[in-house]
Amino acid sequence: MNPWELPRERIEELVREHGTPIYIVSREKIRRNFRRLDRALPAVKFYYAVKANPCPEILQTLHREGCGFDVASQGEILAAVAAGANPRTDLLFADTVKDPKQIGYAHGIGLDDFTYDNASEITQIARLAPGVNVHLRLIVSNEGSVANLSHKFGAPPQQAVELLTAARDAGLVPRGISFHVGSQCLEVERYCEALKLTREVFDRAAEAGIPLESVDIGGGFPVVYENEPIDLEAMCTRIRECFEEYFGRYIRENACRLVAEPGRAIVGDAVILVSKVISESVRDGRNWLYFDDGIYGSFLEVLLYHMRYPLRGETDGPQTPYVLAGPTCDSIDVFSRDATGGIETVTLPEMHLDDLLVAGAMGAYTFSESTRFNGFEPPKFVFID
Ligand SMILES: Cc1ncc(COP(=O)(O)O)c(C=O)c1O
Repeated sequence: MNPWELPRERIEELVREHGTPIYIVSREKIRRNFRRLDRALPAVKFYYAVKANPCPEILQTLHREGCGFDVASQGEILAAVAAGANPRTDLLFADTVKDPKQIGYAHGIGLDDFTYDNASEITQIARLAPGVNVHLRLIVSNEGSVANLSHKFGAPPQQAVELLTAARDAGLVPRGISFHVGSQCLEVERYCEALKLTREVFDRAAEAGIPLESVDIGGGFPVVYENEPIDLEAMCTRIRECFEEYFGRYIRENACRLVAEPGRAIVGDAVILVSKVISESVRDGRNWLYFDDGIYGSFLEVLLYHMRYPLRGETDGPQTPYVLAGPTCDSIDVFSRDATGGIETVTLPEMHLDDLLVAGAMGAYTFSESTRFNGFEPPKFVFID
């Protein structure tokens, strides 16, 4: 079930049993999200991006569905392996900036697919994981996506053949190309442009004697937070058309493996957060509510990307505007913010001490980005199915 639809009595019951703050998770919704993508892109092998939410039960649920894992560190590898993943067949080390100790560890347990975007990574990988398969990550446009990843990652396409050749000369096996169109991508054409660019690199690499056989389209599949007009099936239909346009021949000749690394779209709307009012005040004429979770806990993306989660107060009072703040000793810990990051009020039914706030679509980049600042622990996970 969609946990956002849980009735108030059930939420109150779970709070009586487990306290607050808690994440309420539907494993069934995670399975449905995975199957939906899997059906919409049947030729693609999926590797869930563990960074989105590494909760062990979530990883186990996905492993049982046959999903692999995109990992970025030894910690994420350990979490994926604990969930049952086979390092050789189920894991991609898809972060382009890797701690060398962790490259050696990954290689030692059989992980055989690494992503890179610069010459120094080739040196590190060749030294610590000789002979492994590598994907070169390209810079692609992230315009229209909420989280832009192209500022930090990806090689310029004009350097692609040089970097593929350098990897081969260092004894690695250049297997394919990867890209990421940015997280919460709302413009499907970004995938199509990136696939066109990837095909051009495939052709240039083949001319240079480096035949490639794998395309990794990264993550970016979006989640509905407020009322974004997202049609995931239509988006995937368009991606399939572009696979056909740029890689049709490869796919028909079984000469190309297609891979994706979704995170947000698998867990985002499978989790709600329940937090409690722990203090209230009036400041500069505005009503403030303070909760037992905030920016340093589950709401960091409000600050980073001006993310706006659906919120509801589990009370019945008159509609009242509130500033919503977290519990820590920092003024920045306010999670009612507008699209530019400025503090705003949110209208909720009148709330007081001990009342419950429910935030929807809290599965992705919430727990995984939460800190322990001021000694506040991240929320506990509670599973409803
Ligand atoms: C390399 C890589 N792959 C996949 C993902 C998952 O992206 P998303 O959650 O947008 O699907 C990310 C997110 O930062 C990433 O950096």
